[in-house]
Amino acid sequence: MRIDEFLDPTILIVSGKGGVGKTTVSASLALVAARQGRKVCVVEVDQKGTLTKLLGGREAAYEPTELTPRVWGVNITAERSLAEYLEVQYHMKRISKVFTSSHFVDYIATAAPGLEDILILGKIWYLEKGRNIDLDFDTIIVDAPAAGHMLTFLSAPMGLSDAVRVGPIKRQSEWLVEMLQDPKRSRVHLVTLPEEMPVSETLETAAALDGKVGIATGSTFANAVYRPLLDDEERSLFEEIAADGSIDELCKAADRVGLSLDGRDLEALEGYAGFLQSRREIQEGHLARLHEGTGEVIDLPFLFSAGLALPDVESLADVIEAEVATL
Ligand SMILES: Nc1ncnc2c1ncn2[C@@H]1O[C@H](COP(=O)(O)OP(=O)(O)O)[C@@H](O)[C@H]1O
Ligand SMILES: [Mg+2]
Repeated sequence: MRIDEFLDPTILIVSGKGGVGKTTVSASLALVAARQGRKVCVVEVDQKGTLTKLLGGREAAYEPTELTPRVWGVNITAERSLAEYLEVQYHMKRISKVFTSSHFVDYIATAAPGLEDILILGKIWYLEKGRNIDLDFDTIIVDAPAAGHMLTFLSAPMGLSDAVRVGPIKRQSEWLVEMLQDPKRSRVHLVTLPEEMPVSETLETAAALDGKVGIATGSTFANAVYRPLLDDEERSLFEEIAADGSIDELCKAADRVGLSLDGRDLEALEGYAGFLQSRREIQEGHLARLHEGTGEVIDLPFLFSAGLALPDVESLADVIEAEVATL
């Protein structure tokens, strides 16, 4: 697939179970789009700024701030969306302050479930290209809530447009439904780890999105996949040396490339390599299940860094570009 085709829909919603790498994948996708010359906005929903920091910026505010060339970040909260909505729709600038205390938003969220989600989606609609002349984004990447909540999050406008018969709220919730259900405008990319439960849940979520909610799913990202440690040549060399049983030879070989390792180091390394190898074999089974159950799967490598930062995100963006080309 061509990368511009992959980036076709304006709104890319990234979702999956907690901790699988949604924020990391969102940041990497932002770089992929920016490298294509697109103007990108990454959206965090009610979060603490992990995404914006990963892209080298400060914590995002409600208004877009530039994080890295061609990438802006916003942090959307229901309170701020409600305040903006009341200001824009009803010119209620002063009164909006009263209505938008978090206490009040909690109150309406209880009284009208789904309203918070609609306010957030409404802001995303407002950011879509063509509505905001100062900041006209080509690509909006939404680091969405964890999958369980995401289905309710994305279904909220459908519920509201069914519940309200007439008036501006009816019309506006219909705009959101149209935005989400048009595959040229919105697509959900699911992220998973190559593990038992996350893969099963991803397959269920993909089915529910396509079926119940009517939102197109794009690719599934299999994140943190262990790459094979040794290529074929290295493996046979390793087996040859191991078969000799001579740890001394291995120490000497290490010494020649400037590594000073003793027998204990090598034993520990061999143990760890064995652990990674068996993890990798387990992952392969789950990856096969994922490939069978969903269309396009993009594998992302496990990165051995202590805390990911912008250079890691850059390298994941390289992998996404290469993988998309093979789809
Ligand atoms: N490919 C990867 N390799 C290594 N660590 C990763 C990778 N992807 C994510 N992580 C780490 O896993 C943790 C969870 O990732 P994050 O993107 O914050 O997940 P989520 O947003 O789904 O909760 C973070 O500490 C992140 O640095
Ligand atoms: Mg996250």
